[in-house]
Amino acid sequence: MTYEEFVEFIGTQDGAAPKAANPAAPPPSAIIGAGVPRIDGPLKTTGSAMYASDYNFPGLVYAVPVRATLSSGTIRHIDTSAAEAMPGVLLVLQHGKIMPLYRNASGGRNSENRPPFEDDSVAYWGQYVAAVVAQTFEQAQAAASAVKVIYDPGTFNVSPLLSDALAPEGQPGGPQVMSHRGDTDSAFASAPVKVDETYITPVETHNPMEMHATVAVWDGQGYTLYETSQGVMNHQNVMSQVLGVPQENVEVISRFIGSGFGGKLFPWPHSAVAAAAARQLNRPVKLTLTRQMMFTNSGHRPRTQQRIRLGASADGKLLSLQQDYRNHTSLGDDIRENCGEATPFLYSTANLKVTSALVRRNVGTPTPMRGPGAVPGLFALESAMDELAIKLRKDPVELRLSLDTLIDEEKNKPFSSRHLKECLQVGAEKFGWSRRTPEVGSMRKGDLILGWGVAAASWGANRGVCQATVSLLSDGRARVSCGTQDIGTGSYTVIAQVITDKTGIPVDKIDVVLGSSSLPPGPMSGGSTATSTFLPAVLDGANAAIKVLLNVAAHTKGSPLQGQDPGSLTMTAGRVHAKGSPAASGVPFPELLKLANLSSARGDGKSGGLGADPKARDFSTHSFGAQFVEVEWDPGIARLRVSRVVSVIDGGRIMNQRMATNQVAGAVVMGIGMGLFEETIYDQRDGHPINDNFADYLVATNADAPQIDVHFLDIPDPLLNEYGARGIGEIGLAGIAPAITSAVYHATGVRVRELPVRVEDLLMAEHRSDRA
Ligand code: MOS
Repeated sequence: MTYEEFVEFIGTQDGAAPKAANPAAPPPSAIIGAGVPRIDGPLKTTGSAMYASDYNFPGLVYAVPVRATLSSGTIRHIDTSAAEAMPGVLLVLQHGKIMPLYRNASGGRNSENRPPFEDDSVAYWGQYVAAVVAQTFEQAQAAASAVKVIYDPGTFNVSPLLSDALAPEGQPGGPQVMSHRGDTDSAFASAPVKVDETYITPVETHNPMEMHATVAVWDGQGYTLYETSQGVMNHQNVMSQVLGVPQENVEVISRFIGSGFGGKLFPWPHSAVAAAAARQLNRPVKLTLTRQMMFTNSGHRPRTQQRIRLGASADGKLLSLQQDYRNHTSLGDDIRENCGEATPFLYSTANLKVTSALVRRNVGTPTPMRGPGAVPGLFALESAMDELAIKLRKDPVELRLSLDTLIDEEKNKPFSSRHLKECLQVGAEKFGWSRRTPEVGSMRKGDLILGWGVAAASWGANRGVCQATVSLLSDGRARVSCGTQDIGTGSYTVIAQVITDKTGIPVDKIDVVLGSSSLPPGPMSGGSTATSTFLPAVLDGANAAIKVLLNVAAHTKGSPLQGQDPGSLTMTAGRVHAKGSPAASGVPFPELLKLANLSSARGDGKSGGLGADPKARDFSTHSFGAQFVEVEWDPGIARLRVSRVVSVIDGGRIMNQRMATNQVAGAVVMGIGMGLFEETIYDQRDGHPINDNFADYLVATNADAPQIDVHFLDIPDPLLNEYGARGIGEIGLAGIAPAITSAVYHATGVRVRELPVRVEDLLMAEHRSDRA
């Protein structure tokens, strides 16, 4: 699935009528943008927040999957006799011995096309071939390891070299043209300055703190699934089809989520395994993935290989830009890592072509990972831009500024709000870029050599459809409900801030209810679209609830405002009063509700997707950013550290400074992992990811995190919603890795075109920098 397909899916989940943003709306109160601490913080820090695997029920039993130990083949026989004789074992599931599970063909997105145990074939190491259910987790684990599987092995390919022969361009199995304008061949051929290099990003595995888990409860008619899901509505939609029951008979609950990075967008097979076991045994079943399983059974960012050709004039005009990329995918699913997401519009050029090809490998199905496509794509494009700047003897910030455009030259539409130029300028100022000397190894700090690198960032901005219900309650509180979820980024808090802005009810008197598919349908936490999507629906619901309240004030016997025109009334600071008169003169809203004997004033809010918004038709919508990185290189001991990062983000209006800063700083740390550490390595002998654990798969830690300065331009993009907020979940990761490798080049003279940067890559640099 490309990013375009993904966002299209986000925007078309439901046929709700579009409601255009209102750019003429009055400016919000100070609560919008304020660094309000997370309202769910105390629940998390005291351990009372319930994550999927925290749910326990009387009679609960445990399922443990059995994974294939080869990457290709056919199951000849599964011997479960020993396992079944072990203490506590209740059930062994496998192909042919499980209730019917179905494919999902209409609406919703599944992660893998096939349900678990669909046939007897194995396509990747770690694929589930059976599952054991027992009274205790330990019993299930022991019995799972006693299941013997006999295979007829097949041939497999987990090669990291993606140079396979392909069908011709445009043919099935050949490269597909993703974007094309002008004549890149002749423009490149005649360009006086050229860059022609291939960039590689490895398989990266999502490693959220909270691992995947399902607790499935069957009540004789329907399922309740406690999940860790970035999309409870989609999960319900898909699982109703996989399990063969009506949608209303599946409730998916994800109240708290320990992050996801995209790995939890779509259901993985373990959810169906747990649900089937629960139904067959008529008992609640818990299935938790191990960290090892997370490396094979719940997605990864696929490996990419990207050839970039840039042609420029001697004075730095971009005459031609071509990106030909490949990514690996699994045998069963066509997952396109949309590496050209930002390429067609980031810089001005008349001649541009992007092609994309898939290469099949015996690996589990890839899935979106934070900034899918754009993040690896920008590693290639922005690395090439740095190489071009060096060939042109131009400053890399200056080069980018000179190629900036306010028109999306692919769509031939203006951007709704593009401030890449300001990001570069503000970042350069904050970083102190003017002090940079361009020669390799020329900047010193004691014995250390400093390298300074820069890269631009971009990520799509979109809005889907959403419903939300807002109730003003007679006890003085407010309640908002929406079938979205908070993956840790702060959705609970942002929604409370909106209600405070509209009603004046303080944040600590607002109950935000998310994380259940039984709530009014809300968006996935994906594609950096959740905030921009739920804001207009919550606003609509708040306005509707206030309208009910004003009518109550005007029409209720005994109300101090009885007989007034409801249109002349307003609500501020939790009180209803005449427009123009002070809030203190107003009536507290609980008093009005009590007078009318109402438990609440309720408003059902609704908002539409950007794609159906007539105002959006003429614009291209994206977020932008600029990343400035300093590395310290110690040639004496070959030690490389990222020492300083300045990240400037143009993400529309920032709803909460504290959480937004957290989000981008976290993305910077993840970017350091991408630049220096992360890589899933498949054993070429059997296809097993050999570093499928936290000892061998390195993610950046506190010790690797430098001084990070996050700055937001905070310029509203009114096309998205009244507040002008876009999403900021992914933009912070874009551009970090190429800024790191450009800084590494500046320090060492070594251009690393295959991530992550390894000490081995730099050992030669010791001598080079001595010469420098
Ligand atoms: Mo993001 S990859 O859409 O969670």
